Amino acid sequence: MATSAFSDDRAGEAGRPVRRVGADLCGIGDLDDAEIATLLGRALAVADLPHLPEVLCGRQILAAFAEPSTRTRMSFQAAARRLGATVLTFDGGAATSASKGESPLDALRNLDAMGFDAIVVRDRREQWASRLTELLSARVINAGDGISEHPTQALLDAATIIEARGRRADAGPEALVGVRIAICGDILHSRVAGSGLRLLPRLGASVVVAGPPGLVDPERLPDAVDYAESLDAALVGADVVMMLRIQRERLPASLELPDDASYHARWGLTQRRLETAADDAIVLHPGPMNRGVEISDTVADGPRSRILRQARLGVAVRMAVLARACGRLHHLPTSPASSITGPDGL
Ligand code: MLT
Repeated sequence: MATSAFSDDRAGEAGRPVRRVGADLCGIGDLDDAEIATLLGRALAVADLPHLPEVLCGRQILAAFAEPSTRTRMSFQAAARRLGATVLTFDGGAATSASKGESPLDALRNLDAMGFDAIVVRDRREQWASRLTELLSARVINAGDGISEHPTQALLDAATIIEARGRRADAGPEALVGVRIAICGDILHSRVAGSGLRLLPRLGASVVVAGPPGLVDPERLPDAVDYAESLDAALVGADVVMMLRIQRERLPASLELPDDASYHARWGLTQRRLETAADDAIVLHPGPMNRGVEISDTVADGPRSRILRQARLGVAVRMAVLARACGRLHHLPTSPASSITGPDGL
């Protein structure tokens, strides 16, 4: 019996399905500059609107999460419901046909045949979402695949930075020119970093990464990204500090890491360390946070933290991404909130 969806040769037997209107989002590379600007602009426009038109009324969304998730799954569900869509969930767990030997791919193909407009997927397999685009008629949104990509997280991080810095979402490749972003921690096993390193330089940001040996590979960084040997070096002059947790569930067994206290002493963001960043630097974290490891309580709950704003803008970004998946992005409202002016507004 086939255990891997990718080794199941029967999968493509019926040929490519007829795709629904709309667009997939498997990785940042699926988006051109204009689409990025539109998604970010619409997201920032709707983020704080108390009432939204139900532009996805009558649409059905499936959230198929085969890995644990709190924030991302609930955020997609909240986004879909706010726009009037119906949302069903499938976790492929013990209460499903997986316990009777059905492959994840067969399960998803059957669910797809029930008529979903978009399927939001999370899976430990890399390229899982891309593979599904060849086999499902629903539009596919990647909510995290292995260590590869988590595109809606990168978009919500960008939206948070654009808003905090008072930039224009519609400025495209100029949106974050002059903004220095330090991404610190487990870069190598983080799909958040995977998508962030693809997106943030495209918006003009200058990006530096830092993390302990085994969690960063300077040789594998994109050309546009700088490498710093220590957290302290990465923080100097940073306008944005994004901390990442150690992705312990994905580390090779052979990798030896310091204990939590030693890690915090060397790689944890503390208030004292944050003082070497820019005076108005903001702090981001995709969550879940490990307090006292990569970030101190004082910083996580302090005035520079935009971590809860990330959660709020995450719903807004996912509204825009779901609307795009269903061919309804341009039905979302625009408002002056999409061109915020702030301290260094362009
Ligand atoms: C993810 O699923 O990658 C999360 O958003 C970040 C994390 O798990 O650390």
